[in-house]
Amino acid sequence: MNTEKGLVYALLLLFLLQVSTCLDILDQNNTIKDGNLLLSSGKTFALGFFSSGNSSNRYVGIWFHQISELTVVWVANRERPIRGTSGALSIDSDGNLVLHETNGSFPVWSTNVSSALSNDSTTARLTDSGNLVLVQDFSQRLIWQSFDYPTDTMLPFMKLGLNRKTGLDRFLTSWKSLEDPTPGNCSYRMDPTGYPQLFLYKDGVPYWRAGSWIGDRWSGVPEMINPHIFNVSFVDDPDEVSIMYGAVNTSIITRMSINPSGSIQRSTWHDQDQRWIEYWYAPKDQCDYYGNCGPNSNCNPYIAGQFECTCPPGFEPKSPGDWYLRDGSAGCVRRGGVSVCRSGEGFVKVALVKVPDTSKARANMSLSLKECEKECLGDCSCTAYASANEGLGGLGCLTWHGDLVDTRTFADIGQDLYVRVDAVELARYRKTSSLSRKATVAIVLVSVVTALLLAGSFSYRFMIKKRKDRRSHNPLMSDIMNPTHLDGSRSVKDRDDGPRGNRDVPLFDLSTLASATNNFSILSKLGQGGFGSVYKGIMGNGTEIAVKRLSKHSGQGVQEFKNEVRLIAKLQHRNLVRLLGCCVEEDEKMLIYEYLPNKSLDAFLFDTTQRSMLDWRKRFDIASGVARGLLYLHQDSRLRIIHRDLKASNVLLDDAMNPKISDFGMARICGADQIQGNTNRVVGTYGYMSPEYAMGGIFSIKSDVYSFGVLLLEIISGKRNTACHPENPSYNLVGHVWELWNEGNCEDVIDESMGDSCAKEEALRCIQIGLLCVQELAEDRPNMSAVVFMLANKDVVLASPKRPAYVVKSRYHGGNPSARDGTASANDVTISMVEGR
Ligand SMILES: *[C@@H]1O[C@H](CO)[C@@H](O)[C@H](O)[C@H]1NC(C)=O
Ligand SMILES: *[C@@H]1O[C@H](CO)[C@@H](O)[C@H](O)[C@H]1NC(C)=O
Ligand SMILES: *[C@@H]1O[C@H](CO)[C@@H](O)[C@H](O)[C@H]1NC(C)=O
Ligand SMILES: *[C@@H]1O[C@H](CO)[C@@H](O)[C@H](O)[C@H]1NC(C)=O
Ligand SMILES: *[C@@H]1O[C@H](CO)[C@@H](O)[C@H](O)[C@H]1NC(C)=O
Ligand SMILES: *[C@@H]1O[C@H](CO)[C@@H](O)[C@H](O)[C@H]1NC(C)=O
Ligand SMILES: *[C@@H]1O[C@H](CO)[C@@H](O)[C@H](O)[C@H]1NC(C)=O
Ligand SMILES: *[C@@H]1O[C@H](CO)[C@@H](O)[C@H](O)[C@H]1NC(C)=O
Ligand SMILES: *[C@@H]1O[C@H](CO)[C@@H](O)[C@H](O)[C@H]1NC(C)=O
Repeated sequence: MNTEKGLVYALLLLFLLQVSTCLDILDQNNTIKDGNLLLSSGKTFALGFFSSGNSSNRYVGIWFHQISELTVVWVANRERPIRGTSGALSIDSDGNLVLHETNGSFPVWSTNVSSALSNDSTTARLTDSGNLVLVQDFSQRLIWQSFDYPTDTMLPFMKLGLNRKTGLDRFLTSWKSLEDPTPGNCSYRMDPTGYPQLFLYKDGVPYWRAGSWIGDRWSGVPEMINPHIFNVSFVDDPDEVSIMYGAVNTSIITRMSINPSGSIQRSTWHDQDQRWIEYWYAPKDQCDYYGNCGPNSNCNPYIAGQFECTCPPGFEPKSPGDWYLRDGSAGCVRRGGVSVCRSGEGFVKVALVKVPDTSKARANMSLSLKECEKECLGDCSCTAYASANEGLGGLGCLTWHGDLVDTRTFADIGQDLYVRVDAVELARYRKTSSLSRKATVAIVLVSVVTALLLAGSFSYRFMIKKRKDRRSHNPLMSDIMNPTHLDGSRSVKDRDDGPRGNRDVPLFDLSTLASATNNFSILSKLGQGGFGSVYKGIMGNGTEIAVKRLSKHSGQGVQEFKNEVRLIAKLQHRNLVRLLGCCVEEDEKMLIYEYLPNKSLDAFLFDTTQRSMLDWRKRFDIASGVARGLLYLHQDSRLRIIHRDLKASNVLLDDAMNPKISDFGMARICGADQIQGNTNRVVGTYGYMSPEYAMGGIFSIKSDVYSFGVLLLEIISGKRNTACHPENPSYNLVGHVWELWNEGNCEDVIDESMGDSCAKEEALRCIQIGLLCVQELAEDRPNMSAVVFMLANKDVVLASPKRPAYVVKSRYHGGNPSARDGTASANDVTISMVEGR
């Protein structure tokens, strides 16, 4: 008994010793077994064995020792994991570091330096910057270091780039997945051809270009201009081309890494929050994707609501049809019939850009910008020039000879690119720029006058209104509203477009559709919406479809209609109903959608028997899905669509009850201006319309946010906004919720039919988010990315909502809740604002 106990204790002690063994150095006399650690002298980094995810595979790696989250910065045996805990790292008789499995005869991994072969012994140490170094004891020569073989993380004081003498190329390679350190498909690497640049590659092809070094930053990373977390040294000489980041304040824990899906990010460790905060990432928007707009184009994402691909002066789209359909991949070509060689040509400045790919450019670092222009002008093959050293304002000339690839516009920091144009273009450019100076004066005058007039009329209008509480922005809220630095990878993950070249949407024959829907029989009719009737159809091969037959007189030309449908059909997201095609024949216009068997959300939510099918989890998932779909329309799709008519009946459910937004892009398809201009009707549905839209016809993404807020409150309460408070018909749901919110009785809002499935905390949180979305002032409402973020992160502190706006029908109420789909007209009903309290 006693001996048994003793044995157990001995084993326990052995185990503890084993776990807690920490070494400072590794030499011939010791070994790092699984469970031991090698620590740097300041204990900032540790080397040891780790597993990742649920796998039992063991890897030797280096991680930050002083933070709570295991963050591996380097892995030795990425490709050959050890199964089980039999691994041991030691120095072999050659002086190399080797990793063995105790039963194995061949090393799993080795530093494999032949120069280590000598009579001099070696010692391995881990430095406080996270570098594992192998040094000869006698000569103190560094024979190997982990910084020369980076994995997916770049630490301060680590070099990235090429040693031109030895051929050693240090670059980052992503993990295969977040759990698997095997080399993945993405790498971040110096390309020394032409004028050196840093590239992010995915599957071996350029994915994002940091660009060339221009004195104080990469040409593609304007954010680097005043780095206060790191400083940079760039070297380009016959020996090497490399970059190294230094830490300005070594007590800040920081890293740069690439993730398996091809996003590169910089983050710092926040001690208070105990997590990494991402403060920079790329790629960010569609213009960041390498060559997004094809050759000789400029990608400009800042032209509101317009296609981001543009052609530089003197160029035109190579394939105008595709261009019109927002496919810029063919790029631009120089306008035909002009000469740019010794016939009066010159240069036009394109400002604030990331200059084109320099892998075929030439650099002459002894030329000024003026000399650069002369140099380029004198060489007919030269298509553009720019400063190579803008950051330092010094000498340096870059000239391009051939296509200009991957140019993009930045918002406020960028380089000037001088593009070669023919004499006619040059003259036109000079004229417009002097004209535009005159025009500016005129516009300023006109706007001043207009503003004065407007101000007059507004102050008159507001005199009769109660003064509104317009406190300044809640700073916390605006933090949440720009969550890019917190949730950076989203824009990459949700990249839209769908497959390239898949741009021809099928045109259906009227006869096919007629037979699929039994000649549009009343039995096939699924419903009646604002834009026309919807029928269920069954195609010859059994596929079920939904056919939307648009009311006649939707005043758009056939060609515009087809073009818009093609654009809309390209939008693909799992929370959007798929548009399959269209039909235009004999003054009929129809849209063909995928058929969803479960019909729309309102059929469940507002039905006394069906609503019990929606437990809290389902409702939350539906709300989150709708939010993501809307975010895609607003921000992540190429078209930046405002839905304008989001409501429960426009959210369809598939057989797994996943929400899919329908009727998006209707304003485009039907010609929004026509609907507004000709018939003087405001598109949209009462109860879901934001005040600025209902009253003034002003719509923005924030009007959709308002509608989403209403929908969210309806989902939680199971009540229609418009049919909520029978006793007091001038209050709608929004007003009712706001009242309860102020009384602290929000729980009363929650639909009782959810029973115990309802996570009350979460539901209350969602009510608050809903109230934030329906705030009276559009600028107070969060945008959809903030909404998605708030829904997904329970720890984010929510702002206090301000008073909502709600629009009610003051003369017309009660009665007819089934008029849900009506497109109301401003002439039918008097709309009035009702103050909340
Ligand atoms: C290893 O241990 C032996 C004997 O204990 C000692 O003579 C030798 O100096 C040690 N080697 C190193 C590198 O410390
Ligand atoms: C790890 O295992 C848990 C429980 O078995 C499972 O829920 C989780 O999804 C697994 N994680 C991964 C990345 O496989
Ligand atoms: C060593 O042992 C482990 C498990 O104990 C086994 O999976 C592995 O195949 C063995 N390796 C060799 C080289 O025998
Ligand atoms: C070591 O390098 C040699 C030649 O460079 C190569 O043939 C050998 O496979 C390498 N060994 C290991 C264990 O990586
Ligand atoms: C290693 O051998 C060389 C000659 O081969 C000798 O000059 C040197 O001193 C030796 N170094 C040690 C540490 O013994
Ligand atoms: C990496 O590339 C391979 C082959 O091109 C592909 O099958 C795989 O899905 C890619 N992996 C990732 C994570 O993209
Ligand atoms: C960065 O700045 C620190 C402190 O000013 C300095 O010690 C270090 O050498 C600099 N590193 C680089 C790469 O410029
Ligand atoms: C370095 O960072 C630490 C932690 O953020 C801060 O307390 C300290 O003041 C900083 N030191 C300098 C010189 O900026
Ligand atoms: C740079 O330009 C100067 C002046 O034209 C010329 O003398 C020199 O050879 C050029 N250098 C290179 C590397 O082309």
